Amino acid sequence: MARCYCRWRNVLICVCTPCICMALLFIYVAVMLCTAMNNTATPGAYGLEITHFVASGYLRKNTFAPLPKTFWGISPYGDALWNRLQLTVDRHFNPILHPNNTKRRVESSTFHESLLKQSFSEVIDLDSKWRKFDTVPQLMQEFVKHMQRRDYPILFQPDGLCGAGAKYEKGPPLLLLAIKTSELNFKNRQAIRQTWGREGWVRKGRNSTAGEEGGGYVRRVFLLGKEDPAELGVNLSDLLEIESKRYGDILQWDFRDTFFNLTLKDVLFWSWFSRSCGQTHFVFKGDDDVFVNTPKLITYLQEKLKQPQAQETLKDFMIGDVIGAALPSRVNNSKYFIPDSFYKGFYPTYAGGGGVVYSGLLTKRLHSISKRVHLFPIDDVYVGMCMIRLNAHPIHHPAFLTFDFPGKEEEKMCSYHTILLVHKRSPSQVLKLWADMEETQTKCWNVTLRDPVNNGNKL
Ligand SMILES: *[C@@H]1O[C@H](CO)[C@@H](O)[C@H](O)[C@H]1NC(C)=O
Ligand SMILES: *[C@@H]1O[C@H](CO)[C@@H](O)[C@H](O)[C@H]1NC(C)=O
Ligand SMILES: *[C@@H]1O[C@H](CO)[C@@H](O)[C@H](O)[C@H]1NC(C)=O
Ligand SMILES: *[C@@H]1O[C@H](CO)[C@@H](O)[C@H](O)[C@H]1NC(C)=O
Ligand SMILES: *[C@@H]1O[C@H](CO)[C@@H](O)[C@H](O)[C@H]1NC(C)=O
Repeated sequence: MARCYCRWRNVLICVCTPCICMALLFIYVAVMLCTAMNNTATPGAYGLEITHFVASGYLRKNTFAPLPKTFWGISPYGDALWNRLQLTVDRHFNPILHPNNTKRRVESSTFHESLLKQSFSEVIDLDSKWRKFDTVPQLMQEFVKHMQRRDYPILFQPDGLCGAGAKYEKGPPLLLLAIKTSELNFKNRQAIRQTWGREGWVRKGRNSTAGEEGGGYVRRVFLLGKEDPAELGVNLSDLLEIESKRYGDILQWDFRDTFFNLTLKDVLFWSWFSRSCGQTHFVFKGDDDVFVNTPKLITYLQEKLKQPQAQETLKDFMIGDVIGAALPSRVNNSKYFIPDSFYKGFYPTYAGGGGVVYSGLLTKRLHSISKRVHLFPIDDVYVGMCMIRLNAHPIHHPAFLTFDFPGKEEEKMCSYHTILLVHKRSPSQVLKLWADMEETQTKCWNVTLRDPVNNGNKL
């Protein structure tokens, strides 16, 4: 009996020891894998915190600009005001100089505010040229005086909801149309409300019978500053209040509606969006003098949503008429004039401000990164400056015609069915185009968008 017991014990030891070892090894590997996966998953949890360090001189292209005389020259654009201001902020997030700042993930707004202020006092107070402000044009001086301020109060906004059209929706909205306009452009707003900016359910571009499956909810909001009543001679405040009550699509802030203040509309809109429009999949941001083919845009965006790994690609999604390697205008009577004492170097790649579409996820990321980018007087360039700091890049699509149709293409039948946006159209043209589009809907239902690859037009 005892011998038998011994034999069995030996067999048990022989068989079980490797089994137990294997089991322990398995548990160890599983635990290691889990912790490793957790570590890589957390930083991108909401896709908001990952940012990109931009070194000074990043925008330098060797084919265009001479090499710096000394390789240790820290800032190649040393004396331009914006570059200097931004350099002090960017340097703060340099992962080598300040490893702690890059690691800190969710920073408070006050932290960023103090950072911008600090860079301002460091640069402006030392720089006698900018304190005197004499050689720069009037508008530029005005801009620099106010470029630290962003806390303008809201005067009118859609009541509690994210844009007109929010009331009867059964699902999350697909698209929010955010249109830059001014108090005086009432006609433009009316034309948009009746045509491409209609809120509610929008069907796909085809004559689909799929019903509600082939479309998406669209909302609309107009972005406005204030006209100066003294300058204008009338006070439009009461009229705008009536309009806001009637349509619920007015979002107005208390700053002067000038060209150099347009960037405020981006920054403040992102902030408002992050607070009240969290669920919206896409944002269209554009001018009030464009024509948008909303049904085709809806079709296009729905396909984007259906793609595999949509969440991942949508984090960076921005599409429009992309302009690369542009230089600031140095023509001193141009609307876009930027003196080289203010900005030097190339502009980052950016999407033309006439009309651009980006994802809701990207909007929230732009909101957080914008807190550490100094305002720039040209709004679409500013968006580009925020984009490179997110390491995101706008995608070019030839169906965004911010410089109108090439040649006589417009006269072709179905030409408007091949585009997503065209600039520039008056309110009466918009009304007529929309009516034409509806008329030719069945005839042109299967034309495709202008081809992103061949840059041409498949009719
Ligand atoms: C960075 O953080 C560590 C620990 O959190 C601290 O000891 C160190 O002093 C910090 N460095 C700087 C430059 O603030
Ligand atoms: C314009 O009208 C509004 C509303 O009536 C009023 O609150 C505001 O003070 C007026 N602005 C000026 C400059 O008169
Ligand atoms: C922008 O708006 C503010 C607030 O109304 C105003 O003081 C400033 O002059 C405006 N800036 C420009 C460049 O017009
Ligand atoms: C604009 O440039 C021209 C020629 O370069 C110069 O004569 C003129 O004084 C400039 N105007 C202003 C307002 O700086
Ligand atoms: C859609 O358009 C095609 C081509 O013009 C036509 O044959 C078809 O009957 C239309 N379908 C509906 C539901 O209108």
